[in-house]
Amino acid sequence: MRRIVIDTDPGQDDAVALLAALASPELEVVAVTTVAGNVPLSRTTANALAMVELAGRPEVPVYAGCARPMVRRLVTAEYVHGPTGIDGADLPAVTLAATPGNAVDALIDLLTRSEATTVCLLGPHTNLAMAMVKEPSITAHIDEIVLMGGGFFEGGNTTPAAEFNIYVDPHAAQVVFTSGVPITMMPLDVTHQALTTDARIARFRALGTPAGEAVAGMLDFYDRHDEAKYGTEGGPLHDPCVIAYLLRPELFTGRRCHVAIEHHSELTMGMTVIDWWGVTGNEPNAQVMNQVDADGYYELLTDRIGRIHPVTG
Ligand code: RIB
Ligand code: CA
Repeated sequence: MRRIVIDTDPGQDDAVALLAALASPELEVVAVTTVAGNVPLSRTTANALAMVELAGRPEVPVYAGCARPMVRRLVTAEYVHGPTGIDGADLPAVTLAATPGNAVDALIDLLTRSEATTVCLLGPHTNLAMAMVKEPSITAHIDEIVLMGGGFFEGGNTTPAAEFNIYVDPHAAQVVFTSGVPITMMPLDVTHQALTTDARIARFRALGTPAGEAVAGMLDFYDRHDEAKYGTEGGPLHDPCVIAYLLRPELFTGRRCHVAIEHHSELTMGMTVIDWWGVTGNEPNAQVMNQVDADGYYELLTDRIGRIHPVTG
């Protein structure tokens, strides 16, 4: 089993990623850490707890982390995700509570307890960056950071230059991308190849389980914004790309590139400057994915969500 921590700002796409990870026996999810992003921290934490409960994994601790970015003010995305952050899920009230302690300290404790943990970043990088600042030695205990964020040919989705996760906390992204830890990056260039078409959502609903219905309901709600914005059938299902990579890396292709983070200019704040053609001579610091087998991706997600059955009795 691969030891992983998932840092997240649920968000419907984060929610699907959490369910898929918690249903996958290949992954040891040692903790979920939440950060402010799509919606405020209180909501991202409640939403992460809801997914841990729906997945039937109450033993997995959820730690709440940073309520705002390192330097800039918090920017949220209720216009995409709805006021709860997981609109469309229609779930019973959550009975689980967050584990006491801040996620920043929990990350430091969990990472230093093992030689090799993979950190999955599904939201702004604030928690991990703060942990790296507080205890720099943790970088030696992270075997890989797999993150959804940034964009190159696809540009941005929050400004013309910047993708949401990086835009919200560009200073945290700067800490992460200069940490020296191996990074695998899922930018908009790859996530926009994996759209939540009606047929793909129907296959989740056809599972006939509470998890399948919750996923279908969330995606029906979630994709309306991107369908209207991009004129596509369905919207990009961003965050589960991180989990799918851990389970079936062969679904993805890309190349090693140097990635720099714009954290000075307001015009291009949060831009990931990806040296795709190697023109800077800078040492690559990330494996940047730009292609995905979208059918294989959805087959994997449907299979994993299909493994979640209500706990009886
Ligand atoms: O830009 C897409 C990313 O921002 C996804 O992680 C989504 O959940 C939001 O956090
Ligand atoms: Ca997210």
